[in-house]
Amino acid sequence: MQLITGKAKIAAVLGWPIEHSRSPLLHNFWLQRYQIDGAYIPLAVKSEDFKSVIKGMMAAGFKGCNVTIPHKEAAYQCCDYVDETAKKMGSVNTLWFTQDGKIHGTSTDGAGFVASLNDSGVNVSGKKILVLGAGGAARSVAYCLQRDSAQVTITNRTLKRAEQLVQDLGEGDILEWQSWNQELGKFDVLVNTTSLGMEGKEDFQFDLKNASPDLIVTDIVYVPRVTPLLAAAQLKGLKTVEGLGMLLHQARLGFTQWFGVDPKVDSELTEFVANSL
Ligand code: ATR
Repeated sequence: MQLITGKAKIAAVLGWPIEHSRSPLLHNFWLQRYQIDGAYIPLAVKSEDFKSVIKGMMAAGFKGCNVTIPHKEAAYQCCDYVDETAKKMGSVNTLWFTQDGKIHGTSTDGAGFVASLNDSGVNVSGKKILVLGAGGAARSVAYCLQRDSAQVTITNRTLKRAEQLVQDLGEGDILEWQSWNQELGKFDVLVNTTSLGMEGKEDFQFDLKNASPDLIVTDIVYVPRVTPLLAAAQLKGLKTVEGLGMLLHQARLGFTQWFGVDPKVDSELTEFVANSL
């Protein structure tokens, strides 16, 4: 068993609500695997308390934190230093506090998504990728895909949001939501960033009949682990990449900053977290 001493390094995840977060499980798994004297705890924090909690954590010697809904934009505003990815997002999900009392922030979702694809043997460079959705998740995924030289097309129920996203990204094409199924044959990779198919939401049938046999289908939803989109793709014999990989890979950068070890994403970790879903 891993014991926590007086010298333990402490990090946290802040959200409201926070009970559903898998991050504590994941980070504490790594802490135990690498025998690190540290802990990662969930903190239920309301929006109005966010700033004072960050101040308190810094005063108490925390190494940093993850932030989730509804704090990602507020966290961005708190930062002294952000990188290009965070600037593009206008939000962050990972903060680390330095000795000189400064807050550094970045958004690791998009990079985690691309790392998860790479891990599954998919190199996105030069690939034609259709992104379903134009929310915050789509923004981070599309930005990192473009950074790695993919050709991104966005389709979204609300066209205006797709147009805004492509404008903010500075490149990319748009497809009308009503016609993406017909155009699917032109793409190498399909990514769902919408909440369609998420457990607890209405059922949704994805129509993949125009997919090329080489289409790779991925979803950032990971509950259920095999989403309706992935199930439809598997039925057609298409290669699929599940959303859980993005969750695991996006966590690596924070862990490295706080605890000094770049942790491995492997099948033991994947099964451990999957069993908690
Ligand atoms: P997130 O930050 O997680 O991406 P979001 O900003 O609320 O969350 O975005 C949710 C995405 O799912 C949006 O692209 C949304 O489409 P709209 O912009 O038209 O709202 C999409 N979405 C949610 N429910 C949907 C549905 N029933 N049909 C189609 N798209 C849906």
